Amino acid sequence: METSKITIAVDGFAACGKSTLAKALAKELGYVYVDSGAMYRAVTLYFLDHHISIEDADAVEEALKNITIHFENVNGQNHTFLNGKNVEEAIRSMRVSNFVSPVATVSAVRRAMVELQQEMGAKGGIAMDGRDIGTVVFKAAELKLFLTASIEERTRRRLVEWEGKGITDISAKEVEKNLSTRDLIDSTRADSPLCQAEDAIEIDNSLLTPTEQLEFALQLSKDIIEKKATGLVTN
Ligand code: CDP
Repeated sequence: METSKITIAVDGFAACGKSTLAKALAKELGYVYVDSGAMYRAVTLYFLDHHISIEDADAVEEALKNITIHFENVNGQNHTFLNGKNVEEAIRSMRVSNFVSPVATVSAVRRAMVELQQEMGAKGGIAMDGRDIGTVVFKAAELKLFLTASIEERTRRRLVEWEGKGITDISAKEVEKNLSTRDLIDSTRADSPLCQAEDAIEIDNSLLTPTEQLEFALQLSKDIIEKKATGLVTN
């Protein structure tokens, strides 16, 4: 392992630009980028397609044994594969978005995902975004960022994303409801609730452009990498 490579954890509420930032940081630093939310979304898609009830612990355990998730670069974009099939589009649908947070409350699901995420980041040199990355998955991450933005701005950004995909039949109200419901479930669940790690740096990006946000986070990363290279940071 290159000793100066660090682990970057990016956590925060729904649609507040976590993946945009984590992806850009990974690209700038030559690190691996992992979208942990895509993994919970892939499990959710499987549960929906196979009619797995989250109340049925045996069915959940059995289903988890039959699920493999990996990421591949497709035309320069990071795509999610579920059991060898590209599900990048399907996991972003409202059908999955409306069911993913209840699925993510299930401890057996979290255990399986966290194990996979820790394997992916075992060598360092990774930027991962999610809800529990700095608090559970990589507690010793050298850089932890916690992003926030107003619900209005997050709704606006998610609508723009949908429009970019040619989907225009989803209302702002529906998007806002999905984001706020997920925030509530994610931050009140018993297992690994969404919360800011004590040592995380909070960034409210409501008024920041993606470039401004990246410049700030990149500088933080470079400072830590430099300290690590000179032996000033040890983990
Ligand atoms: O991109 P967006 O903010 O809409 O959400 P996401 O990162 O795709 O995550 C979807 C859902 O997965 C979240 O609302 C959480 O319920 C769950 N999740 C989680 O529980 N833990 C993570 N590390 C990542 C996502």
